[in-house]
Amino acid sequence: MKAEGKDVISFGAGEPDFNTPAEIITAAKEALDSGKTKYTPSAGIKELREAIAAKLQRENGLTYSPDQIVASCGAKHSLYNAAQVLFNPGDEVILIAPYWMTYADQIKLAGAIPVVVHTTPESGFVPTYEQLQSAISPKTKAIMLNSPSNPSGALLPRQTLKEIGALAIKHDFWIISDEIYERLIYGEKFESIASLGKEVYERTITIGGCSKSYAMTGWRLGFAAAPLVVAKAMSNFQDQVTSNPTSFVQYGAVAAFNLPATSVEAMRAEFEARRDLIVRLLSEIPGFKIHPPKGAFYAFPDVTGALKPGETDLDLTSYLLEEALVAVVPGSVFEAPGHIRLSYATSRQNIEKGVGRIREALEKRA
Ligand SMILES: Cc1ncc(COP(=O)(O)O)c(C=O)c1O
Repeated sequence: MKAEGKDVISFGAGEPDFNTPAEIITAAKEALDSGKTKYTPSAGIKELREAIAAKLQRENGLTYSPDQIVASCGAKHSLYNAAQVLFNPGDEVILIAPYWMTYADQIKLAGAIPVVVHTTPESGFVPTYEQLQSAISPKTKAIMLNSPSNPSGALLPRQTLKEIGALAIKHDFWIISDEIYERLIYGEKFESIASLGKEVYERTITIGGCSKSYAMTGWRLGFAAAPLVVAKAMSNFQDQVTSNPTSFVQYGAVAAFNLPATSVEAMRAEFEARRDLIVRLLSEIPGFKIHPPKGAFYAFPDVTGALKPGETDLDLTSYLLEEALVAVVPGSVFEAPGHIRLSYATSRQNIEKGVGRIREALEKRA
C-alpha cells in the first residue's frame, strides 16, 4: 500500500528506528579496512566471546568462559541452534503464550512439540506455579522464556523465575532464556534466570544479541551462553550450517558489548516516553484494555471490547489497515486472540497520528 503512495503508518516493525551507535560502525569499518574479511572460528573470534563473557559478568552477574559462548547470525540463529542440538522428535517444550511465533516453529522444525501455557493481562501475562506444573510431563525437554516479552512487554518476576528454576531442577529439563530485550526495561531491574544459582545455571542456555539493545537488526549478531557440553554441540552444529557470523560484524559487536550500559540510555529513555504515550492513548479508546508493558517496545492491548459480534483480531487488523491506513499485528499469531500488537519503535508523532486514526476508525463504525 505504501508503494501505491498510500500514507500507511506502521506499528508492525520489531526493530529500533535509531541508527547503530557511531563507535560500533567505526569498529566494523576499521575491521574491513584492515582486512578482517576472512573466515573466523565458527563460534566467533575470541575477542568477541571474551567481550560477551565480560558483559555477562558485569551486567548479569554470570560467569562464562569464552568457550561457553557461541556467536551466531542473530539471536534467532542462536535459538535455532539450541533447538536443533537439544530437542529430539517427540520431546515436549513449554511455551508461555503470548509468545514470539518463531519459538513454536523452531520447536516443530526439530520434531518436538510445543506445550502452551496461556496467560492473561489480568495476571500481567505471568504464569502461575500450578499452570507451569501442569504443563510438565515425562517428555518435557525444555521451557522457553522471553522476558521482557515480545509481544506482551511482560517481565517475569523473580519469584516466577525461581519457581521455573525449581521445576526445571526437579523434573530435569532445560531452560532457554531469550534475553534479547534485557536493556529495554522501564522502572524495574532485569535479572537473568541463570544467576539464580549453580543448579539453574547448569541447565540454562542464555540467549542475547545486538539487534535490539544497539539498534543492529540488519547486522545479524546474536549469542548463546551455555554449559560447555551444549556450547560445543551448538558450535559443531553451526560449523556445518553457516560457519562463522560475518567477520567484520563481529568486530562491530566487540565495540557494542564493550559499551557501558549508559551509552544506550538515551534510546531506552525515548522508548520509555513512547511507551507512556502509547499506553495513555490506547487506554482512551473505548473497548481497549491495556496492561502497561514493562519492557521491550510493544503495546499489546486486549481489544475484545471493540470487536463486533463474530469479528476476530485478524478482521480488526484488516479493517484498521483498510480504513485507518494503520498496520498492526493480530494477537492470534502470538496465540493470544483478541489482542493486537503495536510496536512503538516509531516516532511520537507517528504514535499520536496512528493511534488517533485507530480511534477515529472505530468511532466511525460504532
Ligand atoms: C523475542 C525475540 N527474540 C529474538 C529475536 C531475533 O533477534 P535477532 O535479530 O538477534 O535474530 C526477536 C526479533 O524480533 C525477538 O522478538
